[in-house]
Amino acid sequence: MFDQLGSLNRALDGSLGYTSYMKISTSSLRSNVSGGSGRKEAVVIVIIAVTTLIIVAGLIYSGIWYHFKRKRITGLLNDSSEEDLSIATKKFTTKIGQGGFGSVYLGLLPDGTQLAVKKLESVGQGKKEFKAEVSIIGSVHHMNLVKLKGFCAEGFHRLLVYEFMANGSLDRWIFKSPKEGLLLDWNTRFSIALGTAKGLAYLHEECEAKIVHCDIKPQNVLLDENFTAKVSDFGLAKLMNREDSGVYTMVRGTRGYLAPEWISNQPISEKSDVYSYGILLLEIIGGRRNYESEESSHKSHFPSYSFKMFEEGKVRDIIDPNLEINDHEDGSVVDAIKVALWCIQDEMQVRPSMSRVVQMLEGISDVPDPPMPSESCPRPYTNYLRWSSRESTSSGVSNRNYDSSTFVSDSQLSGPR
Ligand SMILES: *[C@@H]1O[C@H](CO)[C@@H](O)[C@H](O)[C@H]1NC(C)=O
Ligand SMILES: *[C@@H]1O[C@H](CO)[C@@H](O)[C@H](O)[C@H]1NC(C)=O
Ligand SMILES: *[C@@H]1O[C@H](CO)[C@@H](O)[C@H](O)[C@H]1NC(C)=O
Repeated sequence: MFDQLGSLNRALDGSLGYTSYMKISTSSLRSNVSGGSGRKEAVVIVIIAVTTLIIVAGLIYSGIWYHFKRKRITGLLNDSSEEDLSIATKKFTTKIGQGGFGSVYLGLLPDGTQLAVKKLESVGQGKKEFKAEVSIIGSVHHMNLVKLKGFCAEGFHRLLVYEFMANGSLDRWIFKSPKEGLLLDWNTRFSIALGTAKGLAYLHEECEAKIVHCDIKPQNVLLDENFTAKVSDFGLAKLMNREDSGVYTMVRGTRGYLAPEWISNQPISEKSDVYSYGILLLEIIGGRRNYESEESSHKSHFPSYSFKMFEEGKVRDIIDPNLEINDHEDGSVVDAIKVALWCIQDEMQVRPSMSRVVQMLEGISDVPDPPMPSESCPRPYTNYLRWSSRESTSSGVSNRNYDSSTFVSDSQLSGPR
């Protein structure tokens, strides 16, 4: 946005430069011309051209200015204007992240409070995302949901201001090797998993409408200085009536975390978030991504591998090899694995609700053994899953059955709300 303003200013400056050049040439003309006859017309034409240029530039400038002034909407944060915000973010120089539809910058208020300021791309999805984000996150409050502190829409500008999360997103922590620094211990991972589940349970069950997040993944779980998990990024969220059990919508979300019903164009529901949560939980436990092409083929699709290992009683093979688990923690790890496998059941109805997930993790309710894929109906999407998370057409898996209409790109998807 500021870039566009910048180039506009440059364009205006350019026209002024042109004017002064013209002025110089007219005066030099004048000194040359004393007595010349046809040259006077030239001078008049030049003057007219210059005046027109100035007037047009002025009109454009004031028109844009008016547009920006008129359309300004700000809220929540004490009348923060864009100027304040851009001062707070030092003209957007310290970039701390890149979201689906824009970049995130570090902001600092005069009183020292740190903020995260998300600047959305102006066109298309950016506007939709802005609306969704402001209306949804602006109206919900939970300790496991990131707080929106303010927003600003002015002309083409769209800014969202959040509380600052000192330890960034979860993917930075669970997908790194121990060489790269601090490894999260099981207790921390467990409380992150539980916090995320509580945030989701609130969205699904305690708000006026059911809010389906639609893009649960480690990149969207933020951690504060105490590693409290907060769900963020509501730009793709979908609202549902409480009484509805499903809703049709275009595929949105991220490859690897999408529930089968998305792929097969069935109605989705809050249970689709439960599936994504299950994948996330497995990734937290395993310390690895749901798909890794370097792994040998039977290990590369982590969810399938986890089912297999669980069935064979080799639970330790699912858990992050770098994680030290003491006897005391053993039970909660196994329970968490079982919960994750319940969440990623192909049948939406079989998956537990998020409040049930919270109860199971907290040990309030029992965690029965999850059904194995072989016990339930055949898994029509297994091919898809294996194909979709494969980077390229490396050995073994054919994608012949794959239907191009359900193509899911690597990046985020979105569709009409
Ligand atoms: C608004 O700003 C004033 C002064 O900066 C501050 O004391 C007050 O807490 C702010 N209110 C909110 C809701 O942030
Ligand atoms: C996590 O947060 C704490 C508290 O702010 C900070 O000291 C620590 O450096 C953070 N870790 C990382 C890797 O950002
Ligand atoms: C982190 O924990 C400390 C000590 O309990 C507390 O003072 C601080 O406010 C917490 N920080 C956040 C962001 O909740």
